[in-house]
Amino acid sequence: MKEIFDRASIRLFQDSPVEEEKITQLLKAAMQAPSAGNQQPWEFLVITQKETKEALTKLCQYSDPLLGAPLGIIALFNKKNLRFPQCVQQDMGAACENILLEAVYLGIGGVWLAIAGFEDRVTSVKNYLKLPKNIEPYATIALGYPQENKKNPLRYDAEKVHYERF
Ligand SMILES: Cc1cc2nc3c(=O)[nH]c(=O)nc-3n(C[C@H](O)[C@H](O)[C@H](O)COP(=O)(O)O)c2cc1C
Repeated sequence: MKEIFDRASIRLFQDSPVEEEKITQLLKAAMQAPSAGNQQPWEFLVITQKETKEALTKLCQYSDPLLGAPLGIIALFNKKNLRFPQCVQQDMGAACENILLEAVYLGIGGVWLAIAGFEDRVTSVKNYLKLPKNIEPYATIALGYPQENKKNPLRYDAEKVHYERF
């Protein structure tokens, strides 16, 4: 699949906004991801306001790309009624990767900005966004039309492939 090999983290964006129908398409891709027991734990917060982007950038180290991105999608998950709570992080990872790949297909660039795994970020983002108790922030995806042209080298490494036993 071409988009997998064309994807690279884009951190510089043009000012032009991402069209409403493309935002919907990105979210459709996200929600099409596999999840444990098909539990679909995700919720998504679409942000375009400068003030919100600035606040999030202050709360999450290494999130500067969000400042110049016309669009941010914050991937959240609902802790309530999960069939397999052990798998929620994996479910969310699949959804976020789907957003990044669909973005490439649509000519949009993006970068994954970590929240989950950093307790301080989880708590401060949750408080800033006034999220309900059962809703947890997972990651922010900064998105927009790219202002940089990036291509990653092929990372395939046959030495990392093992058959039957490590
Ligand atoms: C779980 C995860 C967290 C990441 N967090 C950040 C981040 O906070 N800030 C950032 O600029 N990039 C972040 N990235 C992007 C990585 O730096 C990037 O994927 C990596 O350098 C490989 O480059 P590529 O995306 O172009 O293949 C994150 C990526 C993943 C998968």
